[in-house]
Order: sequence, then C-alpha cells, then structure tokens
Amino acid sequence: MKTVALAGEDDFDGWRDAARALAAAGIAAADVTWRVGESGGELFGDAAALTPAAVPHFAVPRAFIDLARTVVCHSDPQRFAFLYTLLLRLRGAPRALEDGADPLVRRVEALAKAVRRDIHKMHAFLRFREIEDDDGPRFVAWFEPEHHIVRAASGFFVRRFAAMRWSILTPQLSVHWDGVRLVEGPAASRADAPADDPVEAVWRTYYASIFNPARLKVGAMLKEMPKKYWKNMPETALVGELVAGAQAREASMVEKSGTQVGSNALAAWQAVREEARGCTRCHLFECAMQTVFGEGPVTAPLMFVGEQPGDQEDLAGKPFVGPAGQLFDRALGDAGIDRSQAYVTNAVKHFKFERRGKRRIHSKPDAGEIEACRWWIEQERSILRPALTVALGATAGRSLFGKAITIAGYRGRAHALPEGGEAWVTVHPSFLLRVQDNKEAEYARFVEDLVRVKERLTELS
Ligand code: URA
Repeated sequence: MKTVALAGEDDFDGWRDAARALAAAGIAAADVTWRVGESGGELFGDAAALTPAAVPHFAVPRAFIDLARTVVCHSDPQRFAFLYTLLLRLRGAPRALEDGADPLVRRVEALAKAVRRDIHKMHAFLRFREIEDDDGPRFVAWFEPEHHIVRAASGFFVRRFAAMRWSILTPQLSVHWDGVRLVEGPAASRADAPADDPVEAVWRTYYASIFNPARLKVGAMLKEMPKKYWKNMPETALVGELVAGAQAREASMVEKSGTQVGSNALAAWQAVREEARGCTRCHLFECAMQTVFGEGPVTAPLMFVGEQPGDQEDLAGKPFVGPAGQLFDRALGDAGIDRSQAYVTNAVKHFKFERRGKRRIHSKPDAGEIEACRWWIEQERSILRPALTVALGATAGRSLFGKAITIAGYRGRAHALPEGGEAWVTVHPSFLLRVQDNKEAEYARFVEDLVRVKERLTELS
C-alpha cells in the first residue's frame, strides 16, 4: 500500500506529481491512500517500487488536467482517488472522459460542477467592508466556501479590485492583496472581519434600485442566492421588506417617470454586466476570451437574442459584429429597424468552439450551457422588460421558453411570456449564410418577420 501526503486540500501539483509517479510504476488505484497535511507531496511506503518505469509514459488529454485541477478543490475526501482511477483508465481508453454515462466520469463531473458553482457564489456574493488601517482604507470580506476554492477564486478579485487593498478571510485561509502582491495568511473566524460599514449603505441602495417587484420569484431567489450567504450580504437585510412591499412598489414604479426608471435600470444593468465578466457558471469561460454581454439602450422596447458570440464577437467583446452580424444589420436596415434603438444579446455569453489548427470553429452550445447562461439573460430581461423579444434561432428560443422549440412551430406569431412581454421567433442570421437552396427567398422571409415585429411593436406602444 502506498500513502501519498499532499501539502494542502487543493494541492493539485502535489496530486499530479504523485499520480504520474504512481501510474508510471504501475500502481493500482486500490493500492493508494491519499492524505492531506503532514509533510506535503511525499510518497510513503515502498518508495523503491516506484523507481523503475514499469509502465510506458502516456499522455492525458488537456481536458482531464483542467477537470482534475477543478475537482481537487472539492471537499470530498475521495476526490484524489477518483481522479487517480480515472487517470489510469485514460491510459487504455484516451476518450473515456467523453462517456457521459460512465458513473465515475459522471461523479467527477459532478464534483467539478459543485466546485465551479462554489467559485461563482464566492465571486457573486462576497461583500467587502471598509476599514481603516495604518496605510489607509482596506476592504475586508468574510466568506465561508463549501469547497477548497479560495486560491482558485482569488484571481478574479485581483483582476477586478487591482487598485484596492483588500483581504478575504475564510475558515480555511486568508488572502491579502496590497495592490501588487497576493499573500496568504492563516484561517480566520467571522469575528476577525468587521461587521458593518458605510459601503453597506451603497449596496443596500443599489439592491433596492434593481429589485424588480414585478418579477418576484422567491424560489428562484433562494436557489440563486441561498440563505446561508445572506448573513454576509448587507442588501439581504432588505429582502423581507422589499418582498412585503412588492405590489405597492410595482404600482409606484409604473407611475414613476421614465427617466428615473431608466437611470436605475442603467445602474443595475452595468452592475450585472460587470458581474457577468467573471462568470464561471459553466466551463465555457475557460477557453473564451471574454464574456460578451448584451448591448443597446436599457430602455429599448425591443430585444434580440442570438445564440452565442462567434470568433469575432469573442475578440471584440460585442454581439453580432462578425459575418452573421453584418447580415443581421442588412436585414434590420431592409426592415426599417434601427439597431441602435434595440437591445441585442445572446442566449450564451461565451464563445464555444473547437480548435482546428489556428482556426476556432463554432460549436453549438448544449442544453446545460444554455441553462447555466439563462441566469444572465433573465437578469437582462428583468432590467429591460422589453415589450417584444425576438429569438433568433432555436438556441435563443430554448433560452427564452425554457424548453426545446422548433422554428417551424413557433415562427410568425406572438407568444406571451410568463414574466410579461411577448416573444417572436425567427431564424438565426447564420442559417441564411449557410443555406444553399432558396437563399434569396429565405432572406426575404427573415426580413418579412422583422417587418412584422416592427409593426407589432408600433401596435403595442
Ligand atoms: N451569432 C450569434 O448568435 N451571436 C453573435 O453575437 C454572433 C453570431
């Protein structure tokens, strides 16, 4: 029996080095015990048995390394063993990871998903409180992650708050940024973090301004912002009050001037767009250059939803600027719709692609990716509340209706949406680029759909 002692709970390098040595020596997964702590990165037991390369070296797919790096952060004590078992399996079956029905692959994928979700929660729900130390203001936050994600999640805060001095305290460890370097410190307790400060008032005002009583869904709120995080989030002190006054607020919102609602909406939209920059809700963020958020006036009554950014959109950070976007612009012009007066976004906010040589080839988002990204489009829709939303293609339709749809079944008529407003469905502009038969007729039909949308908008307003 071999025992591996890793340096820390998230010691990916230690796991990888030990796993490589064990695999090369032909050690079965059942013959290894993984431990954390004591002396790190060491193999105990009959170490001599590891020296001869009993088994030829084998390469593992990059996707496995990425997966393992994530899974190591999980709190499941068996994670190291699962990963080593999977590693050995890859030797005989290099495509083993693609078998989504395999129980071990599923288990490991589920661990990775939980870790990504925990990282997302930390990015989204951590709140800094301002204190003053000898060198001036410092922002301190307390957070209780479920998994060992603090190191993995810290880069996001470094990028986003590079100019501030901040500390994140957790029961696992603390991390401190001084504007230049990130240093680690020991585990902390909640009492080490300040309880309240004036920054909280800003959060409360912001939250009150984006809270949309007409879209109050307590179940969804709890799912996305589980109660356990509430105690560290100043704005949640308002939730009870806001929920209780929801109807009255909706009535008064309707009466408010458009300008007031518009400026609140703009602040809310900017905050959501900012948050989406750090989105890790699914794995697509790992390869794309950036989140491509929607753009256009937040008061626009018309919203277009595409599928996902393409290669050029990923580079530019803007939706519909590549070949499909140019065709879309032409059709909008032919239909008499001013794109600058509409809001244009995508169902999925990261570019999904496969590499072929130097080229990045578009790859269709799957149901899980569309579902993960609905969080953002729902926020965009709840801020804009457009009278009319046009789904360009089946992916956009799936995102809007929450289920698979066919273009043929939905095209050419209005569909009331449960949260208000109506949806129209038409083809995606890239279909018009691809189609070989009746190209001109298909384009004319697309323009016709847009003309109907424009007429309907006039009727509604
Ligand atoms: N296709 C889309 O669906 N969206 C874009 O932004 C570009 C191409």
